Amino acid sequence: MGIAMAPRVTVPDIKVRKRSKSDAPIVVLTAYDAPGARIADAGGVDIILVGDSAAMTVHGQSDTLNMTVEHMAVHVAAVSSVKPNALVVGDMPWLSYYLGDVDTIRNAAAIIRAGAGAVKLEGGRIRRSAIEALVAAEIPVMGHIGLTPQSIHRLGGYRVQAKDPLAAEILVQDAIGLAEAGCFAIVLEAVPRAVAAEVTASIPVPTIGIGAGADCDGQVLVFHDLLGLSERVPKFVRRYATLADDAIRAVSTWSEDVRAGRYPSDEESYH
Ligand code: KIV
Repeated sequence: MGIAMAPRVTVPDIKVRKRSKSDAPIVVLTAYDAPGARIADAGGVDIILVGDSAAMTVHGQSDTLNMTVEHMAVHVAAVSSVKPNALVVGDMPWLSYYLGDVDTIRNAAAIIRAGAGAVKLEGGRIRRSAIEALVAAEIPVMGHIGLTPQSIHRLGGYRVQAKDPLAAEILVQDAIGLAEAGCFAIVLEAVPRAVAAEVTASIPVPTIGIGAGADCDGQVLVFHDLLGLSERVPKFVRRYATLADDAIRAVSTWSEDVRAGRYPSDEESYH
């Protein structure tokens, strides 16, 4: 008897998942390599986001600006190698969608060819033409507004966005513009819950919140934050495991065993 496999999640599946239609929220987790993708997929997430947060979580940088299309393609290929049921979305890194439609499509194609089913890019209505060009090239696009980490120098820090009524209205109009341009879903990062609720009610495609409260159509977290592998986490993160502590304990026990001559045992040796 064959093993029953969950059907693979597709862009059209996600596009219609508004909670106003009483769907369960969409679950999105980042992953950057094959073991992370296996864990995320076995945990039943709908989307694995290969985020440019890899710059910080994996490469130890203080921001995301050093990621390139080549870096992203390597991470996307590692994630998609496990053939997850989840939809794989690959981040377009900083500058990879600013230099004209041809450059944008070529860069997104590298991420799709590495195994992603869609790309994500940051910014509001200013990105309309890039999004329209990608959609016309059959590349599904997820938007990302609110706190956009690639704008770190303009924003002056990782801070909550859209706190005053004018900024909130601009955010709503940006979301409407992205949905009109063809985004199938939009990440809302670090915005007040009420603003995220207003954005969510204003657009026909799902919003995926991170630090945006419970009224979004879905939630996304960073793998290392959720599992307790990050040293410091923002207020909106709930840690569901303490893997760094467990790993340190395991390494130090092994070190003690080696130093005390308890490892390897005879059974752990070849004869
Ligand atoms: O790069 C990333 O991981 C992201 C999420 C935080 C949404 O963009």
